[in-house]
Amino acid sequence: MAMIRSQAAKHASIVGAMKAITGTSNARASFARGRCVRGTYIPSDRADEVTTSQSFTRPSRVLARFSVDGNLKGSEMGNLVLRGFSFRLGGGDHRSDILTQSAPIHYARKVDQMVEFLNMRRPRASGGPDPVKMRAFSAAHPETRHQADYVAAHPLPPSFADTTYWAVHAFPATNANGERQFIKFKVAPVVGDAALPGGEVKATSSDALDDDLQKRIGASDIRFSLMALLGRPDDPVLDVTIRWPNEDSREAVRLGTIVITAIEPDETCDGSVFDPGNLADGIGYPPDEIFAARRAAYAISLARRG
Ligand code: HEM
Repeated sequence: MAMIRSQAAKHASIVGAMKAITGTSNARASFARGRCVRGTYIPSDRADEVTTSQSFTRPSRVLARFSVDGNLKGSEMGNLVLRGFSFRLGGGDHRSDILTQSAPIHYARKVDQMVEFLNMRRPRASGGPDPVKMRAFSAAHPETRHQADYVAAHPLPPSFADTTYWAVHAFPATNANGERQFIKFKVAPVVGDAALPGGEVKATSSDALDDDLQKRIGASDIRFSLMALLGRPDDPVLDVTIRWPNEDSREAVRLGTIVITAIEPDETCDGSVFDPGNLADGIGYPPDEIFAARRAAYAISLARRG
């Protein structure tokens, strides 16, 4: 019982720290700036090689949200700030929520490490976080730099539509033959990733991203391939701060196409939460402890939204 209480306190403190860092009082604890959209999902004829989940093997409507992380009041370097893309596929009892971001790794391996990482970034009464403490923490735990290093080395294109997103964790997928393997979800723009050449960093504000989104949707639809990167038996499935060996070049199956067709009133997305724990049969929960913490944290954040 005491153990459950301490876990719950940890999850609440993660949400509290996220809100302190991003400056959100009654909005989402992270990825607070965003735009709700809708569209359709068209499965490929190979989806059932990977999973029996009807969320991925049947056509359906899609509710989705593009977002930008970072401090709500802070200055923006939009090409170096993580972007999010959350989507809900499937109907009835077969809905799944997949939350993805523009980096393939997370910044902490364990929940305790995440709590420490976030608490260190809380603004102090005297202003921002303590840079000396942050440097010492990074030096002692180099894996907590992996995400920031990745983001710095991969400036993003000035459009949500040209960005590639990952769901980060390793998900166990079961197909109709009962075969189970780990997969990673990758969402790739159909036109190809227009990532900026290394070193070129332009400031793209979240308003500019939003304008671009509205223009693109006004002119046509926006298409992404939903890919399953196929795991191998010795892949590290418990550590979300590292990628699988040769992850970019390994075998992948295109599960289907997500077609974003229209802007949806923000209230539609704000009324509920994209919850990583919503997964229909055929895709299981990732086994790492960070994923388990997420299932609790999103509900806490929803309850604290205004
Ligand atoms: C590991 C990879 C992760 C990815 C890809 C990810 C992605 C996202 C995205 C895209 C959103 C915005 C949801 C929306 O559009 O409504 C979000 C929100 C949020 N994330 Fe994560 N996240 C990750 C890890 C975590 C972890 C480890 C925690 C905490 C333990 C966490 C806590 C939250 C919370 C509290 C929200 C706000 C929920 C709400 O009020 O709607 N995230 N995340």
